[in-house]
Amino acid sequence: MTTNPVSTGQSPSTSPAEAAALLARMPDLEQALAFYHRHVAPDTAIDLSVAENVLVYDDSMQKMVFANTSLLPEKYIHYFSPYGTPELRQQVADLLTEAFGRRVPADHVFGTAGVASALECLAFALKNSEPSGPPPLVDGDAVLIPAPYWQGFNWSFEQRPKLTCVPVHLPTEGPHAFQLTLDLIKEQYEEHKRRTGRAPRLLVLTNPHNPLGVNYSKKLLEEIYAWALGDPNLHIISDEIYCHSQLAGSTTPFTSAVALDAYAEHPSRIHVVWGFAKDFGLSGFRTGFIVSQNAVVQDAMLGSTDTGAEKRHPMSWFTPVDSLKHYVVGAVLTASVNGPGSELYTTYAMRTYRDLLSASFDKVKARLEHHRIKYIHQDGDNAAQFFWLDLRDYLDLCVPPNQGDATPFPLTADDLDPREQCLFDYLRTAPTEVSLLPGGVMHSSEPGFFRLCFSARQPDEVCEAIDRVSKALALLKPQA
Ligand SMILES: Cc1ncc(COP(=O)(O)O)c(C=O)c1O
Repeated sequence: MTTNPVSTGQSPSTSPAEAAALLARMPDLEQALAFYHRHVAPDTAIDLSVAENVLVYDDSMQKMVFANTSLLPEKYIHYFSPYGTPELRQQVADLLTEAFGRRVPADHVFGTAGVASALECLAFALKNSEPSGPPPLVDGDAVLIPAPYWQGFNWSFEQRPKLTCVPVHLPTEGPHAFQLTLDLIKEQYEEHKRRTGRAPRLLVLTNPHNPLGVNYSKKLLEEIYAWALGDPNLHIISDEIYCHSQLAGSTTPFTSAVALDAYAEHPSRIHVVWGFAKDFGLSGFRTGFIVSQNAVVQDAMLGSTDTGAEKRHPMSWFTPVDSLKHYVVGAVLTASVNGPGSELYTTYAMRTYRDLLSASFDKVKARLEHHRIKYIHQDGDNAAQFFWLDLRDYLDLCVPPNQGDATPFPLTADDLDPREQCLFDYLRTAPTEVSLLPGGVMHSSEPGFFRLCFSARQPDEVCEAIDRVSKALALLKPQA
């Protein structure tokens, strides 16, 4: 482990103590790990904890887009439309039309600085009153989310909009382990209503799912949406940030919310988000989009209407798709594979991404199986970018690293089961040095599950990490 001056990106010589102080202020363990591995101790460990994707950049984006992109033209030093220029909104609408299999009009598309921000904008927007729609959301209103789930929903919905995330826990055992059903959602909806006297106001589905990777079938989605929209005050957000992250062998195809019958019936209560962070691997660019035809959401994103209501600035003004993002994302969106008139780079990249992702999945799966490391996956299911590892067998065997061996950078999250924290620390410190994301961070109802992002590094390196994890686990529990 590095104990020399470290590069935090703040200053070239931030001391370990200063870096540790910065890390201690990061309550989201995934983001703390991203910071740690990028700026504090780069190159010392294999980080598979953060949901990132190097496959597309390494395979084609560098050579087909950025190698041909010149330094910044003058027009990009000026103010740009914060929710995207008409060109950008059209290009993203075209891209999503292809991915969703339904036309997405450009005037339903609003850019923000990342999907986390798009979700927060949606939450704020739905707190405004809608003349002929459901009453506005108010502080404390419940957001139902099948769990485990991406912990960022807590930051997007709770920190500033003051809503309350309520997990819908999936079973961890039995033939339906980790499978979402309408009954599970209904039960939590009723339970919350009974306990608080207030019905939940938002249902959030992540499709494909993070961390489970699955696509929800059209049948299940139609069932859930039909029931949910039967409550006239409920909105649904479909987070489709991983929509292109599809395995070739997946037999349950991805179905976007906009392709559902329910969408045709209740378009104003269904909102979709997508961004460039995952499918395209451009997480650092922080560029996300809301797709919504709800008037209140559109007003919030565009700014004041002419109704004489309180004047409001467009929400993206505070969290914009700025000119630099327009430039670099625009380069990705306009590049073509063999010069002008040939296939769009984005079409090519997403087609080949499927192959890259599938090849990586197969290789990593084989290595996990070789080492008999358990994971949750049914044949024919999608995996998006993840394996949900089941390391429960090792929970009670882990002993905390000696004080002297421990990393000088404690990384933890609130409420993490101490045994899960122990296993996480054991694997991420020398000699194993592999970071996985503890499931407790993602509201897993039971400790011992860890998310491995298999697109975060090239497959050979992911396999090397698995070899190291296997060796470390074997020391805890010699293989039979
Ligand atoms: C389901 C989901 N939604 C949103 C995000 C955040 O996206 P962005 O980085 O564009 O804010 C993530 C990132 O991990 C995610 O997994």
